[in-house]
Amino acid sequence: MASAVPVVVPRMKLGSQGLEVSAQGLGCMGMSCAYGERRPEPEMIALLHHAVAAGVTFLDTSDVYGPHTNEILVGKGLQGGVREKVELATKFGSALTDGQWEVRGDPPFVRAACEGSLARLGIDCIDLYYQHRIDNNVPVEITMGELKKLVEEGKVKYVGLSEASASTIRRAHAVHPITAIQLEWSLWSRDVEEDIIPTCRELGIGIVAYSPLGRGFLSSGSKLVDTLREDDFRKILPRFQPENMVKNAAIFEHVSEMAARKGCTPSQLALSWVHHQGNDVCPIPGTTKIENFNDNVRALSLRITPEEMAELESYAAMESIHGDRYASSIYTWKDSETPPLSSWKATT
Ligand code: ATR
Repeated sequence: MASAVPVVVPRMKLGSQGLEVSAQGLGCMGMSCAYGERRPEPEMIALLHHAVAAGVTFLDTSDVYGPHTNEILVGKGLQGGVREKVELATKFGSALTDGQWEVRGDPPFVRAACEGSLARLGIDCIDLYYQHRIDNNVPVEITMGELKKLVEEGKVKYVGLSEASASTIRRAHAVHPITAIQLEWSLWSRDVEEDIIPTCRELGIGIVAYSPLGRGFLSSGSKLVDTLREDDFRKILPRFQPENMVKNAAIFEHVSEMAARKGCTPSQLALSWVHHQGNDVCPIPGTTKIENFNDNVRALSLRITPEEMAELESYAAMESIHGDRYASSIYTWKDSETPPLSSWKATT
């Protein structure tokens, strides 16, 4: 039996435009795709309702999860007065054309994607709408121009970017204020700290940390790879390849040992590390289980001293991580530079 959550979930300001969210969100992707087996829809809706009742009201989805099925699921979870209690974030930016994924940020695509998401979610307005991946054929100013119109029309409240470089963030922010940047940030994914995090802070942009549990590695360690189904997304990620996992295993073992010393779980320690990065950071751990959700919420009450932070970080130095976080075929912020605005006029 899942126990009640004995933690009051604080609220936080995300970005500088007025959005307020729960200080920890809920990543909904795994409820419909990517990880593990599909669990029954009523169970997932019960999990969404449990999260909202516990005070975790910042829900994260995307049109690409499924594709579409995750937004449909979340939309069902929002019915019956739940919508009014949540901050709903979704994303656009990928299209499946002739069996191939394509990154798209052109205005007609952005508009159609937004209308599709609104319909699937059954809502009138998206609280936070992210460009999920940046189309490097379209100047980011052009994409932002369309998002700005969607805000003016009341279809979107706040705008975000995901997997965007510092220079792309600056260019986008000059067209319309960016409320949040979503990025992968965890004890074993820290490449964003050099340039992207300082840029967000300089511009007053909120930071949403996805995969804060290292896609489950910081919760379960290397034994996770033995349990992955053939269609699990992690099967194609370099870090989860057995030859890399063997080398990465020690990271989790140290985290786990330290968690035992502190009387918490490895997941709580990993999440708390993200919370301790600053009050402008909101981690959005994903789960399909109420028990794990409750475990994760309790991370909000964990305190880590600066010495303990340093100890944790010493176990996961960047040079000791084996395997990239994504396969080279997957877009990341490193692929997010877009052409100058002048080139768009020339080609259209
Ligand atoms: P993402 O943001 O990509 O969803 P994540 O939040 O870093 O990634 O990790 C999600 C993974 O961690 C999921 O596989 C989830 O599995 P369950 O659906 O079985 O929970 C796992 N996970 C989340 N919280 C966990 C916990 N407290 N203990 C063990 N595994 C957990």
